[in-house]
Amino acid sequence: MIRAWAPGRVNLIGDHTDHTGGLVLPMAIDLGTMVTGSRGGDVVELRSPIEPEPAIVPLDVADPAAVSPGWARYVAGIVAELRPPVGFSGSVDTTLPVGAGLSSSAALEVAVALAVGFDGAAVDLARLGQRAEQRASGVPCGIMDQLASASGVVEHVLLIDCTSLEVQPVPLPDDLEVVVVDSGQRRELATSAYAERAAACQAAQAAIGSLREATMADVAGLNDEVVRRRARHVVSENARVDQLAAGLASGDRASMADAMAASHRSLRDDFEVSTQVLDELVDRLTSLDGVIGARLTGAGFGGCTVALVERGAAVPISQPMWRVHPSGGAQLLGDSEGARQ
Ligand code: GLA
Repeated sequence: MIRAWAPGRVNLIGDHTDHTGGLVLPMAIDLGTMVTGSRGGDVVELRSPIEPEPAIVPLDVADPAAVSPGWARYVAGIVAELRPPVGFSGSVDTTLPVGAGLSSSAALEVAVALAVGFDGAAVDLARLGQRAEQRASGVPCGIMDQLASASGVVEHVLLIDCTSLEVQPVPLPDDLEVVVVDSGQRRELATSAYAERAAACQAAQAAIGSLREATMADVAGLNDEVVRRRARHVVSENARVDQLAAGLASGDRASMADAMAASHRSLRDDFEVSTQVLDELVDRLTSLDGVIGARLTGAGFGGCTVALVERGAAVPISQPMWRVHPSGGAQLLGDSEGARQ
């Protein structure tokens, strides 16, 4: 019996920077997805207690985006990219809220890849998952979600350079906790908004070169007002990733708070991926004693907010909420010989 587990992720800061090779600061979390079953046959067949229909994917699947039900597309994306020589039959169980912005799809892709036989480095597992996600959803997403899931480190957040794909673990201080609050709003990433934002970033790069290297003066010279604001978000957000990583290392609460608040404002005003519900939730969280900072996390348009809080601080709000802990990366927990890794 094979068991493959992959965590979800929450991003502390650095949103919409990965698709231009920028900096991100996610952590793998102790909510995730387990795929259990055995290899064999010529389809990958998975059942889930939270899905009415199973995913049944032939090994020669041609177009993952055309597969149904919808959740089977992510399974099909992995099958199409990895082309495992034999099928798999089993089940999927998750502790992640699905579609809430905690990378339930990345956790599914990464767990399925390990279950059906991916064997290699975390960065290659992440690249495979990213390609699968792009084919399944049609969204030109970056690599953050799959790389965080593949390379999580217990008790650490991950400072990731999305150009070199170097992952630098940064300890999460003992006196801090990460709290995720679900806004309850759901918006499919596949809406054209993500692709439009990514295209605006590409337009900026065509004019002024890599946004990773660009200065605010370069950005100010962009002619198109919308492209200029999108680029301003990315360039300033890359700097805020360094600011928050440094704040975590030194314990500087004011600097952490400032980075998170400025990130949310920039995602709201310049990148325009926030919503009124997210803005109100961030305001409410930020006003609470013991909350150092809060912001929307992930792609935006709904989903979750993330807050850094003093350990044990009460967070008296009514929305669904998780105190998440930095988790290790995806792993194969057993194979047919019963071996453990
Ligand atoms: C989604 C994408 C990621 C990243 C975030 C925003 O989660 O899958 O690649 O772009 O949005 O930071």
